[in-house]
Amino acid sequence: MQIRPAIESDLPGVLEIHADAVAHSTAIWTDEPPTLDGRRDWLATHSVAGRSALVAVEDDLVVGYASYGPFHAKEGYRHTCENSVYVRPGHQGKGIGRSLLQALIAGASADGLHVMVALIEAGNEASVRLHSSLGFDDAGVLREVGTKFGRWLDLRYMTRALS
Ligand SMILES: CC(C)(COP(=O)(O)OP(=O)(O)OC[C@H]1O[C@@H](n2cnc3c(N)ncnc32)[C@H](O)[C@@H]1OP(=O)(O)O)[C@@H](O)C(=O)NCCC(=O)NCCS
Repeated sequence: MQIRPAIESDLPGVLEIHADAVAHSTAIWTDEPPTLDGRRDWLATHSVAGRSALVAVEDDLVVGYASYGPFHAKEGYRHTCENSVYVRPGHQGKGIGRSLLQALIAGASADGLHVMVALIEAGNEASVRLHSSLGFDDAGVLREVGTKFGRWLDLRYMTRALS
């Protein structure tokens, strides 16, 4: 398995993983099916200094992707980034998420960023555990701020110091 910056030809694979998470999970709080154009925007906006878009590739298959970008548009937040990490169903629980998140943390530290923030649906045990095991601290839960599949969702903030 190789972890490297995402390129245009990875986007159909990234889209498949993203679409599955939209359709079947509460990790992404929308029902709107994603598009290839949306993934092109994601790649373009995360391929500039201070941001990152990575893929995990195994036998030419994109098995995961991850990114970080600005946490908030206002300039006072410029040393803080927000991450995301997704692993293809059937490939989860094999250390791919951990490798992607480790690479994100290393990249954001090298970029001179100060704090990485993860916004996680509070019931997402895999993601909470992944982030905890790589040094993220629980920064609190916002109760019932989201909804999907006919139920309220809680949002857990987790933060990690970078430099
Ligand atoms: C969350 C996710 C990124 C984790 O990646 P992964 O490759 O499956 O996880 P890893 O194999 O690297 O394991 C990382 C940690 O999570 C734990 N974990 C993995 N799957 C788990 C599960 N289903 N339940 C509980 N813990 C789990 C592992 O035990 C490991 O913890 P440890 O380091 O304390 O042993 C992945 O499962 C995924 O893409 N899920 C769907 C989308 C999603 O929820 N994305 C995150 C949005 S915030």
